[in-house]
Amino acid sequence: MPEAVISITGASGALYAERLVRALSEADWDILLIVTREGSINLELELGVTSEDLAKLPGVSLEDNDNLAARSASGSAKIDYYVVCPASGTTISKIAAGISDNLVTRSALVALKERRPLIVVPRESPYATVHLENMTKLSQWGVVVLPASPGFYNSPTSIEDLVDFVVARILDQMHVEHSLGRRWTGEEVQ
Ligand SMILES: Cc1cc2nc3c(=O)[nH]c(=O)nc-3n(C[C@H](O)[C@H](O)[C@H](O)COP(=O)(O)O)c2cc1C
Repeated sequence: MPEAVISITGASGALYAERLVRALSEADWDILLIVTREGSINLELELGVTSEDLAKLPGVSLEDNDNLAARSASGSAKIDYYVVCPASGTTISKIAAGISDNLVTRSALVALKERRPLIVVPRESPYATVHLENMTKLSQWGVVVLPASPGFYNSPTSIEDLVDFVVARILDQMHVEHSLGRRWTGEEVQ
């Protein structure tokens, strides 16, 4: 089965992470889940769930963010995708500076050094110039910077529709088949 590291950091938008982990679990992926301290705060604040609750989904293993000896800290572990969702400005800046002081940043650095797919999903508004500069760096190094910025052309009627728009874009990057949202056909505007 394909395997992904999914890191939840302390930006708002825990629902993006919950629906992403659920979709990958339903697609039978193996998921190494890492949650930072502020990531946990947002999970509880916004969804009323804990990282342990998320880890009950099939295929999900919860990793300790302080354990730099975990499997995902090593480039020798063959992991297919690395996703930071949502990605705080702090974690984005640490990755761009090459700092790997916890398992989230270390696994992201593994993705960079091994030239593996890394997707970061920032959620901040407005962006500080330092964040824009760091996202530019990451993008130039091949990282997919995929902001939590849903489109409205599918006439969303719920928060879940908006969230799924973004999750669908992440799943597309990971080459996961899904049925989240309607795809643009080119015939919508006559
Ligand atoms: C409730 C709450 C909401 C936050 N929302 C955001 C946010 O939307 N975007 C962001 O970049 N930082 C946000 N922060 C700040 C980060 O959590 C903070 O920079 C933290 O150091 C990030 O650490 P981490 O990347 O290890 O999770 C928020 C913090 C809290 C407590």
